This record gives sequence, structure tokens and C-alpha cells, in this order.
Amino acid sequence: MVEHRSIDMSTQQAHHDARQLAADSSAARRQRHVPLDEAQLLETQRAFDSVAADYDGPRGNNELIQRMRLTLWDTVHSELPPNARLLDLGCGTGIDALEFARRGFHVVATDWSPQMVERTQARAAACGLQSRVTATHLGVQQLDQLDGSFDGIYSNFGPLNCAPDLQDVANECARLLKPGGKLVFSVMGRICPWEVGHYTLRGRFKRAGVRATRGATAVGMNRHTIWTYYYMPREFFRAFAGDFSLQSYRALSLFMPPPYLVDYYRRRRRWCERLGRLDDRFGNLPLLRDMGDHFLIVMRKR
Ligand SMILES: C[S@@+](CC[C@H](N)C(=O)[O-])C[C@H]1O[C@@H](n2cnc3c(N)ncnc32)[C@H](O)[C@@H]1O
Repeated sequence: MVEHRSIDMSTQQAHHDARQLAADSSAARRQRHVPLDEAQLLETQRAFDSVAADYDGPRGNNELIQRMRLTLWDTVHSELPPNARLLDLGCGTGIDALEFARRGFHVVATDWSPQMVERTQARAAACGLQSRVTATHLGVQQLDQLDGSFDGIYSNFGPLNCAPDLQDVANECARLLKPGGKLVFSVMGRICPWEVGHYTLRGRFKRAGVRATRGATAVGMNRHTIWTYYYMPREFFRAFAGDFSLQSYRALSLFMPPPYLVDYYRRRRRWCERLGRLDDRFGNLPLLRDMGDHFLIVMRKR
């Protein structure tokens, strides 16, 4: 998972440069909608390459992440017919792709991090499921290079928050998806009450408000930078509205703490499980569904 913490770079100068870059580029983007540049995309790629080896551990797949994963798995499973052909955008180490392969789907898994793609390929080989999972090094900004026709496209835990131009992604999804096909995405939202409370109580006010940033913001992970856009669900949907109808959306981890507070969860497991049940029950209600660590959105191609 992306660690939601302030930029953590090795020298003061780098720190200052990155802040300056973030401020400059977000101001420019506000005025001219400038997408991320090549250098920023490569920074994000290096960040994920650097954690690929241990991404199945607490950073990328702890109990709280697994809980959210189940919601996406069940949603894809219920929205798409058996044997459907799926495209995974930002597959990471391939946990979702292999789960769907085991459930009988065929998956083309793509990611901008070559190390993540290697992990997916190794996972498919280890499970003997190469015939159902093809892993390809491809960024969401390069979908024009992909051919084929899919029944469903999914993306889990925020790869689309790193897309330099969401409208381009929407257009490519429309090209790649059959009529009636489904999009199932989990995306980092703008309003995460746990995050605001957690950092405000610690006096880290800037960090508490990071999701309010307009345009791309620099988020630190493993001494690298991930260039991240945060969205409200309706704001996200606007990019897709030309070719897709909005079927549903719901909050993920609104009452339950976000994944980086897994230590809190482990200390208060029973209490947190109750909170998780509140998510399951009320996470799709108006207003509540606009909040949470992530939101899960389902769209249908017209
Ligand atoms: C938080 S991880 C989630 C990985 C995986 N979907 C999962 O559920 O474990 C985000 C993933 O997005 C990928 N990513 C970041 N920027 C991307 C881009 N521009 N295009 C495609 N993938 C990207 C990263 O390499 C990383 O694997």
C-alpha cells in the first residue's frame, strides 16, 4: 500500500526541491491541467519497484487491506460472467489476478513497475496458472499500446490515483471494453476522517490535509515519491461519464481504520471488527459513500 505519510527523502535539498516541484506543478496544473511529466512517472515507478519484493507483507497486504480486497473480489465476481476476460490496471504482485484466475477468469495483468510485473509472473508460474494470467509491463498512460477486447476492467488500491490523465484512461477503457462491460475500481478518496483525526491529534496539520490538494501531490514511500491525485467519487466519475453509466459506489474503510493504522487494529481487533461491520452495512449510503480511505466504484459501458 501507499504509505500515507509526508515526503521522506534523504537530504534537505531533495526535500525542498520536491516540495517546490509539488507546489509549482500543482499550481500549473490547476491553471492548465498539465499532466504528470516523465520524471514524475519514473519516480512513482521507482517507488513501487523498491517495495515489490516485500509487497505481500504488512505494507501491501495486511489484514485491513485483505478485508477491502474481498469487497472488490466479490464485486467483480458478481458483476461479470464466469470465464470473462479481465484487464487488471496496476496489478502489483498479482494477488487479485491470481485469485480471479483461480475463480475461472482470464486476466491480462498490467503494471508500470517492472518489478511488480515480475512478481505477478512468478506468482502465476508458481500456481501453474500462466494459461489464465498474462502479466505485461504497461502503465495506465500507455493503454493505447494494448489491443484486445475485455468483458471487465478492474483496478485495486489506487493505481488510478497515479494516472497522469484520467480522461485518457477513460477513453482507452471505452475502446478496450465490450458494450455492457464493467469497470470496477478502488480509488483513494479525498475525505478520510480517520486520517484527518490521526494526524491532527499528532499536530501534523499539513499531513492531515494532504488529500485536499488539487492536482498531483508528492506522497512518500520507502524514501521515494509517489505522485498521487485524490478524488471524490463524483469527480472521478466525470472523466468516465461520456461512455459509461455509474452503477454504484461505496466507501471502503470509512469506520474501519485505514491500512497504515494496522497496529491500532491489532490492539483493538474486536472493536475494529465491529467498525468493519458498520462499513459493510452503511458504506453505500448517501454522504457516507463519499468518504473513507478508498471508494469502490462500478461503471457500465453504454
Ligand atoms: C497500491 S499498489 C496496488 C497493487 C495491486 N493492485 C494490489 O491490489 O495489491 C499500486 C500499484 O499501482 C502501480 N502503478 C503506479 N503508477 C502506475 C501507472 N502509471 N500505471 C500502472 N500502474 C501504476 C504500482 O506499480 C503498484 O503496483
